[in-house]
Amino acid sequence: MSGEECVRFLQWALPRLGMRWAGFRKVRGQVCKRTGRRLGELGLSGYDDYRGYLDSHPEEWSVLDSFCRVTISRFHRDRGVFELVRDLLLPELAAAEAGGPREHRGRAGLVRCWSAGCASGEEPYTLSIIWRLAVGGRYPGVGLRVVATDVDETLIARARTGCYPRSALKELASGWVEAAFEPVGDELCLRPQFRPAVELSLQDIREQMPPGPFHLVLCRNLVFTYFEEPLQGRLLDRILERLLPGGFLVIGAHEELPAGDWPLERLVAGAPVFKRGEAQAFKRPVARGT
Ligand SMILES: C[S@@+](CC[C@H](N)C(=O)[O-])C[C@H]1O[C@@H](n2cnc3c(N)ncnc32)[C@H](O)[C@@H]1O
Repeated sequence: MSGEECVRFLQWALPRLGMRWAGFRKVRGQVCKRTGRRLGELGLSGYDDYRGYLDSHPEEWSVLDSFCRVTISRFHRDRGVFELVRDLLLPELAAAEAGGPREHRGRAGLVRCWSAGCASGEEPYTLSIIWRLAVGGRYPGVGLRVVATDVDETLIARARTGCYPRSALKELASGWVEAAFEPVGDELCLRPQFRPAVELSLQDIREQMPPGPFHLVLCRNLVFTYFEEPLQGRLLDRILERLLPGGFLVIGAHEELPAGDWPLERLVAGAPVFKRGEAQAFKRPVARGT
């Protein structure tokens, strides 16, 4: 099976799954490997046959959907973004929480975050490490809670184990690696004190979202890369229902928000960090299975 055949197939299939080819262009190898293996399992001779198979077996679409999950992640990915989280976002949120209970600020004394599409825990545990090693000590009485969701069972299980190859930690300063991890065999495992802040949960963001409210939402390298723009807009709407006024949304370093009049302002020119206006009242999400 040629790579070109796979590309043509993905250009046909992805929009039918609410996804966009542009997001997959650079990472198509991972997806083509999986679909190629699937053709072998089904005894099909090429992608044309697979199209026919999808037509006659609609349940196969969810199998194909599962092949379209790109699982690349790293601790402290896009270092500059996490420096903003460390130096501006978490201190501002913690200071507000330290000021005591405030209307619309969520539970007093707790900075509440959501890592949407958390892979094997690299992103939510990075928040926990930053909090414990650089921010939390300055705000006694204030805690950090990170709800971390992903659709992939294997990744959530790996996140629960909390052990990683060294390559997953290459963007983390060496002092922090030593402080937060202990070697176990060939891997590095997160020390116990960095784990309780993170609550892992298996969820498909298209079907379900944690109720919130959140002070900080990280939705990076998922919705705004792989999904079609109308779906991006619908999901952003629902994310914003969960983001408190004055809270922050962080997207991927190479992502843009879909067109729309969102109640968000870019915090720093060129950085993928947005602040939700203080003026907008927080609307609790309406129950619709999310
Ligand atoms: C490219 S990784 C990004 C991980 C992390 N946010 C980062 O930026 O390093 C995308 C993650 O989104 C997850 N994902 C894909 N589709 C999803 C969906 N419909 N709902 C929730 N998570 C999803 C994948 O399993 C994968 O872990």
